[in-house]
Amino acid sequence: EHAKSIVLTQDESLPKAEKIKICQGVDSRGKRVKVSGWVHRLRVQGKDMMFVVLRDGSGYLQCVLTGERCHTFDAITLTTESTITVYGVINALPEGKKAPDNHELVVDYWELVGKAPDGEEAFNSKVASDADPSYLLDNRHLVLRSETTSAVFKARAEVIKAFRAHYESRGYTEVTPPCMVQTQVEGGSTLFEFDYYGENAYLTQSSQLYLETCLPSLGDVFCIAESYRAEKSHTRRHLSEFTHLEAEMAFLTFDEMLDNIEDLVCDVIDRVMTHKPTRQLIEQLNPGFEPPARPFLRMTYADAIKYLQDNDIKKEDGSYYQYGEDIPQAPERLMTDKINRPILLCRFPADIKAFYMQRCGDDRSVTESVDVLMPNVGEVVGGSMRMDDMNELLEAYKKEGIDPSTYYWYTDQRKYGTSPHGGYGLGIERFLAWLLNRYTVRDCSLYPRFTGRCTP
Ligand code: 4AD
Repeated sequence: EHAKSIVLTQDESLPKAEKIKICQGVDSRGKRVKVSGWVHRLRVQGKDMMFVVLRDGSGYLQCVLTGERCHTFDAITLTTESTITVYGVINALPEGKKAPDNHELVVDYWELVGKAPDGEEAFNSKVASDADPSYLLDNRHLVLRSETTSAVFKARAEVIKAFRAHYESRGYTEVTPPCMVQTQVEGGSTLFEFDYYGENAYLTQSSQLYLETCLPSLGDVFCIAESYRAEKSHTRRHLSEFTHLEAEMAFLTFDEMLDNIEDLVCDVIDRVMTHKPTRQLIEQLNPGFEPPARPFLRMTYADAIKYLQDNDIKKEDGSYYQYGEDIPQAPERLMTDKINRPILLCRFPADIKAFYMQRCGDDRSVTESVDVLMPNVGEVVGGSMRMDDMNELLEAYKKEGIDPSTYYWYTDQRKYGTSPHGGYGLGIERFLAWLLNRYTVRDCSLYPRFTGRCTP
């Protein structure tokens, strides 16, 4: 009752507070500032002192409340995740005391904006790290606020920025292909189909075919778009919707494309590691991360099969993998983890790869294809050179059971000035799972979609 009667007032004789974001704190030390955010942590010390770590998405700021500022009803009933606005001066902390950015805001006045619940409904009970994964996914909107998860999405934003900067520096043009399409790219079994004004349409599996059509107009191109796959299997690296970074290049050889992929991965890692705030995020999430050494190991599919046999990596039934069979994710990971460096796995048999892939000049049974395998994750990039001969492509449609009439625009690419060309797709969530050492790609997707999960 007594607390309810205490009303804080702002001292009008103080300088007017300048509104800042927490990331501007270091530059604003010594001035009176106004900061709004969420109560990230709360610690009461005695009856005259309270420490609040405030979070606004741009950083964390320790605030110290003293005297009557901790005696109000709002102070006594303050909870984590409540929103508040604080006024005061940021001072550097003396040696030995620890807080984010080594400073703290001494609050002279504060206001409650929105109080978060206490007790059973309290935030902490919704995000407990030992909770059931599906409960945490139901509460993904709250989990996003945790230090680890927000670090993942800060790093993700920086990584995407670095990819864009890479392509800009290499002269590529960014395009935005459609997500609603009427052609398949990576096989019919994983298509999401929907009704498009009475016609059949799909959510795109890959923007590759569209990127190819941009080459004569824009030269080398890339896009960052969502791709969709109805993947029935529950694995830690498959999503139903993922962010797909794809690039396509004209007039190059397969080996040049492999060089480009290596350049992409290494240059992007270089960019994020030389940007101090991003390097700190990577060190926080993946302590001891070492950028991969160049050159990456180049290995053929045939040698991978031999490696599996020589290293006793077998199928579940105890038999060996044979040439011509798809290498599933488990053996692929065992091999990659054992080799423990990035692998450019090349020359897959045509029979187990997509219809559009160019055959190798010296062996028509294998393709100019590549998967980039990373330790702990496995495949993060898939790419190939594309068939550039029209008749060969028409044959390939037939073999795949594809109706060429819906692909007329893709075929035209070979008719109106064909060119050797190729490209690749990189799964952003897989790349991040590798770089940030996350157990599953789900942790790197804002709101992961997979079988049985489309909420929130
Ligand atoms: O190997 P994929 O299927 O290749 C293509 O889609 C080509 N058309 C790309 C191109 O050449 N432009 O997929 C490329 C990458 C994979 O290496 C993987 O990183 C990611 O996309 N990916 C997935 N990521 C998460 N969940 C899934 N279900 C994924 N499917 C593919």
